[in-house]
Amino acid sequence: MPRRHNLGRALPTATILLAALAAGLGLWLGLGRFGAPAPPNLQAALLYPAPRTVPEFHLTRADGAPLTNADWQGRWTLVFFGFTHCPDVCPTTLGTLKQVWTRLAPAQRERLRVDFVSVDPQRDTPEQLGRYVAFFSPDFVAATGSDTELTALTRALGLLYVRVPGENGDYSVDHSAQVILIDPQGRLVGLFRPPLDAGRIAADLAQLTR
Ligand code: NI
Repeated sequence: MPRRHNLGRALPTATILLAALAAGLGLWLGLGRFGAPAPPNLQAALLYPAPRTVPEFHLTRADGAPLTNADWQGRWTLVFFGFTHCPDVCPTTLGTLKQVWTRLAPAQRERLRVDFVSVDPQRDTPEQLGRYVAFFSPDFVAATGSDTELTALTRALGLLYVRVPGENGDYSVDHSAQVILIDPQGRLVGLFRPPLDAGRIAADLAQLTR
C-alpha cells in the first residue's frame, strides 16, 4: 500500500496548497479593486467579493430632479428601499441612518450620501415622500420611480419588494431590510444587514470616507 499511501498524502497537500494560493490571489485581487492603502477593517458592512456594476436606472427625486447612476458617483452612497406607510422597518432604519449621519464629521458627510427610495409610488407622492424623509434628515435624498424601474433596480441590487393585500382594499409592502452600500464609482460593493447598529455602521463609514 505504499503507493496509495503516498498518493493519499500528496493529493491533500497539493489541494491545500492550491486552495491557499487561490485564496491569497483572490484576496490580493479583492484588495486591488478597493485600491491602496490597505482595505479598512469593517465591523458591520458585508462586502461582496468583487464590486458589482449597477445597471442604468432613472428615478425621480421628491423635489422633481432626476436620480440616476450619475448621482451615485463621486461619493459613498447608502441606499434603502421602503415606503412611508411602513410601520416599523423603515422608520427604525431611517432613524438609525440619522444617528449614523450625525456621528460622522462634516468632512466625512461630504463623502457620503443617503438615499431613501420608495417602492410604493402609488401612495408616496413627492410631497409625502419628501416630508417623510426630511423628518429624519434634510440631507437625505428621497426618490421613487415606476414599478418597472423599481423592480429592475431592486433585483439588480439583490433586493425584493412585494405588495401584500390587506383589509378594505388596503395593502402593505414587504421589502428587503438591508441598507446597500455603493462605492464612489457607483458600484454595489456591500450591504448592512439588520439589526443595524449606528455606532458600528458609523465606524465603518468613517473609515471608508477618510
Ligand atoms: Ni419598511
